[in-house]
Amino acid sequence: MDELLAYRDRFPTLARGPYFAAHTLGPMPEGAPDALARFAAEWAAEGVVAWTGWLEQIRATAALLEGLFAAPAGSVALGPNVSVLAGQVLSCFDWSGERSRLVTTDLEFPTCDYLYRAQETLGAKVEAVPSRDLTVDTERLLEAIDHQTALVAVTHVAFRSSALLDAAPVVARAHEVGALVMLDTYQSAGTVPIDVGALGVDLLVGGSVKWLLGGPGTGYLYARPEVAATLAPRLVGWFGHQAPFAFEPSPITLAAGAGRFVTGTPNVAAHVMAAEGYRIVAEAGVDAIRAKSRRQVARLLEGFQAQGAVVRGPTDLDRRGGSVVVDFDGAERVTAALIARGYTCDYRPGAGLRLGPHLYTTDDECDAVVAEVAALRR
Ligand SMILES: Cc1ncc(COP(=O)(O)O)c(C=O)c1O
Repeated sequence: MDELLAYRDRFPTLARGPYFAAHTLGPMPEGAPDALARFAAEWAAEGVVAWTGWLEQIRATAALLEGLFAAPAGSVALGPNVSVLAGQVLSCFDWSGERSRLVTTDLEFPTCDYLYRAQETLGAKVEAVPSRDLTVDTERLLEAIDHQTALVAVTHVAFRSSALLDAAPVVARAHEVGALVMLDTYQSAGTVPIDVGALGVDLLVGGSVKWLLGGPGTGYLYARPEVAATLAPRLVGWFGHQAPFAFEPSPITLAAGAGRFVTGTPNVAAHVMAAEGYRIVAEAGVDAIRAKSRRQVARLLEGFQAQGAVVRGPTDLDRRGGSVVVDFDGAERVTAALIARGYTCDYRPGAGLRLGPHLYTTDDECDAVVAEVAALRR
């Protein structure tokens, strides 16, 4: 009995067929149009007065993420996307001094790769530790973290392979040498349980379009309170002021906690829409989602391995996130054919066919996609 299937009705997008794309864009929760309509109605009825309620709704949305990450109140801020939020974190560092190393990996999502490299113009010495089989080489990563390291910025689940980083030793090593750790949790949040206290991680960045089912326009930043207090972003805005509506001249008095990372006028519509997805994930429970995901990932891997496909990333379920990435001759063509037959999935060059089952996926859909691929390969 798969209790999570009760959530299927909450996603109208599933009417288009088996939906295996939560790793790229999750389906729309049925509450999203109402959330957007409520936002519009409040704007229409209240005009500028609506801001009071909107700010409360934005705080409530961030609080849902704090709940998902077992994080303290005020430690999560919402922003537009990872590019801006991670850029703000990077803007806190002085890369010209003794501690000028930024240690990362060659498995980062391009936006992070571009951002990290861009710090070189400010003096950062960026080391992208080479991966092995599209999996972070943890030993090499640990070796690369030294006393000149300011920041270790690494993806929690790799988008190309779904390989899951064992973050605890990375955090331990970074803290031993006085460095901070920022995890990109875009591909893990909502499908892999994250407890920021247990991990001891300093910063998380991610967004809502994937496993969190919140749609585009909302990124998030978690900052460990003790760390947030020491960080002063150069990329700031008036909403990051402790009292934005006092309209004080510079220098900015930064808001407490993660609030200092809010830049300008927030995207209210996107944030209230995102809450609809977060609520479903919170209600279903990430532990239950993870248990189901492991079962279906195992089922898919087994099916594809029996076909002789190359599995990207580890086969150990403890070391994988929620998607399955498999490669074989003609994978791009087969992906296009699957899409034509109503399966929502994607292909990434150098990786292969990506399939992301989520809480609404049936075992039959998993078996059907494996069988369909086998037929298309013949
Ligand atoms: C691991 C990871 N990080 C970041 C992003 C996207 O960053 P942004 O929010 O800037 O679009 C993605 C995918 O879109 C991703 O898979």
